[in-house]
Amino acid sequence: MARLNSKIHEVIVTTVSAENKPYSAPMGIKEVNGHFLIQPFKPSATYENLKQHRQCVINYTDDVRVFAGSLTGRRDWPTKQCQKIEGFYLEQALAHTELEIIEFDDADPRSCFTGQVVHEQTHAPFRGFNRAQSAVIEAAVLTSRLGMLSEEKIRQEIAYLTIAIEKTAGERELEAWGWLMDKIKQAGITLND
Ligand SMILES: Cc1cc2nc3c(=O)[nH]c(=O)nc-3n(C[C@H](O)[C@H](O)[C@H](O)COP(=O)(O)O)c2cc1C
Repeated sequence: MARLNSKIHEVIVTTVSAENKPYSAPMGIKEVNGHFLIQPFKPSATYENLKQHRQCVINYTDDVRVFAGSLTGRRDWPTKQCQKIEGFYLEQALAHTELEIIEFDDADPRSCFTGQVVHEQTHAPFRGFNRAQSAVIEAAVLTSRLGMLSEEKIRQEIAYLTIAIEKTAGERELEAWGWLMDKIKQAGITLND
């Protein structure tokens, strides 16, 4: 049986830079006793931003272009000002949570910031699961590990994920998928088109 673990939610965390600009990155976060744990690698922009500005936003979005975009140099998504903290949330968010960081563990290689909920807002309904969206998230994770995985492993995984893309993708998913496939090919990996 699988090891019992805290469930991980793939979200977009928006932090604030020293220049007061929003910075959005995909993160796998955990909810423990009503608090959220965010674990950015060191070094990273999210880590630096959270260290100097102890507030941030969790965005729940089904626009997977934001996930694929952050791995392919497309980070300029429209944002709005938060209600209760000095921060920003994504316009595409179905819902967002505003957090105040109450604890910080500077562990290596991943730090851990514990956030307390200050405010939550829902903007649009969740319309159900879409397999192509999950496929894009999986491909984004693969793309973030290009240097660590074998070419054969990447080819096999992409071949399987392509089935969901071909059967269930809409425009956003196709666009996000295209960005990731370009990045994989640019890394010198030949995919079976
Ligand atoms: C689904 C998904 C989950 C991720 N979760 C994490 C995470 O929990 N911690 C982390 O440091 N990076 C995570 N990453 C990678 C970062 O989003 C990416 O490397 C990002 O650019 C972080 O570095 P930055 O803050 O300097 O941009 C994840 C990527 C994806 C696609």
